[in-house]
Amino acid sequence: MMTARMLRLYPGAPEEIALPGAYLAHRLHERGNTGAPFVYASFVSSLDGRIALRDPSTGESRLPAGLVSDNDFRLFLELQAQADCLVTHGGYLRDLAAGRLDDVLQVGTQEATRALAQWRADNGLPPQPAVVIASASLDFPMPDSPARHGQRVVIATGADAPADRVAHWRSAGYKVLVAGTGASVDGGPLVRELGGMGFHSVYLLTGPCMLDTMLREGMLSRLYLTTAHRLLGGESFHSMLSGPELGDAGRLRLCALHYDASAPDGTGQFLAHFEPRPA
Ligand SMILES: NC(=O)c1ccc[n+]([C@@H]2O[C@H](COP(=O)([O-])OP(=O)(O)OC[C@H]3O[C@@H](n4cnc5c(N)ncnc54)[C@H](OP(=O)(O)O)[C@@H]3O)[C@@H](O)[C@H]2O)c1
Repeated sequence: MMTARMLRLYPGAPEEIALPGAYLAHRLHERGNTGAPFVYASFVSSLDGRIALRDPSTGESRLPAGLVSDNDFRLFLELQAQADCLVTHGGYLRDLAAGRLDDVLQVGTQEATRALAQWRADNGLPPQPAVVIASASLDFPMPDSPARHGQRVVIATGADAPADRVAHWRSAGYKVLVAGTGASVDGGPLVRELGGMGFHSVYLLTGPCMLDTMLREGMLSRLYLTTAHRLLGGESFHSMLSGPELGDAGRLRLCALHYDASAPDGTGQFLAHFEPRPA
């Protein structure tokens, strides 16, 4: 099988490099430390800024065909492999239970990804990352995969969370963090709690709400963005942010830009990562 290649366009002179291993080389697990974890997120977007389309009649959201690719998924798995903590949310667990999305809460459990499990072992990471579930409603089905893989599971919510749901999860044996003054989880208190729990690399497998609070509260260390070279249109859609105007918190500096000419379907994609502009 031919190894996928991509062109590094920035920084430095353009150079062709192997795609597999490109994100493992970032060594994100070594960037954070206790008290100040390295917090990173990734998105795949169309040229017209859509990350998902919503069916106007049912309200259901979906990732449109042609947005994600095998190459992008490979790099997603490399980001996941470097996390000692994955942050997911109630919406994902409801989609997972309904069979709308695949389970991405474990690393290296498929034959094709065993090398990533070995990479974690070689790099001193525990076999599986911990899982943090952010939810305002606390109304989600708990998947059984984290327990099967011995993963620590923590639930995070806001101070206005329904008291009966907090009691429900605590009586089921879960730690419930109150990390936010309203209904939702706020980036600042969540990251401070996770730092206090000893996590160094925190991967946000979340969406617009969590990205918004992490940026607004200055907690995001790095944003990975794949842009598939297609326009999607669609009257109802999600973009990377859904909240009010972000202002300066949304200013990011480009760290690297790669061009993968082959994926998703021969039209190509840009793979970039950004960091917040230093204050
Ligand atoms: N293309 C991409 O890269 C990409 C990336 C991410 C998402 N998506 C897609 O985009 C669509 C929208 O994303 P999304 O589902 O992540 O939307 P979202 O509106 O950000 O989050 C959905 C749910 O997660 C919980 N949640 C999220 N942030 C929270 C916070 N800070 N505090 C408390 N609870 C929080 C809430 O559920 P509760 O009811 O449990 O409170 C919320 O209703 C989906 O179709 C998704 O699959 C695409």
